[in-house]
Amino acid sequence: MEFPFDINQLFPERISVLDHTLEAGGKFAGRPDLQACCATVIDELGKASARAQQLPAPVTSASKMKSQRHQLYLLKDGESNGGRGVVTGFLKIGYKKLFLLDLQSVHVEAEPLCVLDFYIVESLQRHGYGLEVFDFMLQDKNLDPVLMAYDRPSPKLLSFLANHYHLTENVPQVLFVHQVNNFVVFKSFFLNRSGNI
Ligand code: ACO
Repeated sequence: MEFPFDINQLFPERISVLDHTLEAGGKFAGRPDLQACCATVIDELGKASARAQQLPAPVTSASKMKSQRHQLYLLKDGESNGGRGVVTGFLKIGYKKLFLLDLQSVHVEAEPLCVLDFYIVESLQRHGYGLEVFDFMLQDKNLDPVLMAYDRPSPKLLSFLANHYHLTENVPQVLFVHQVNNFVVFKSFFLNRSGNI
């Protein structure tokens, strides 16, 4: 994804980790122009991800990032676009308090780290970039992917998790009258529960 500004100036690292400040390492202090560019990148990524998943509205935007304690791992290709760089995709994670049905269909309360949004630019999908950013996040968090919950995973994400991490057996979560639970967890989530929750 190309932008009319220098991606390498905004994001020097191949993978940048952004939080509610929208800054990678506080380097935008006193530079509202760079903050605005960063917000544009996040908004465009959020819109593209929503289109790819056929969602009615983006779940990722700069304003949502500012108000929520989420982390966004942004992957770039620094060589493309005449050396100005392009954005390849992103992965957004965050903690959520969830009421889940365990293997015995008993409700349990948990607050796992969740995959909230994940997108690689269409023309670059199935080239290993999703795996690169996901593995980077797992190392950063020192986490096993089975201990995470997945918000409304798309068929592509379910295939990705089965393919790369052998996560195949998810635990059905029913819809409650007053609560719609779109999160998916896998069987070993509950087997490893004591260390997780
Ligand atoms: N059809 C089926 N499976 C796919 C597809 C596809 N079009 N694209 C990727 N995958 C899965 C497959 O398991 C594939 O392995 P294979 O090619 O051997 O079959 C594997 O992912 C490829 O791994 P990567 O190349 O590392 O993944 P990629 O860079 O494509 O990133 C991602 C995966 C993020 C799911 C990407 O395909 C994408 O952006 N899809 C559209 C948006 C989306 O569905 N995001 C997930 C939303 S749900 C959520 O975020 C909680």
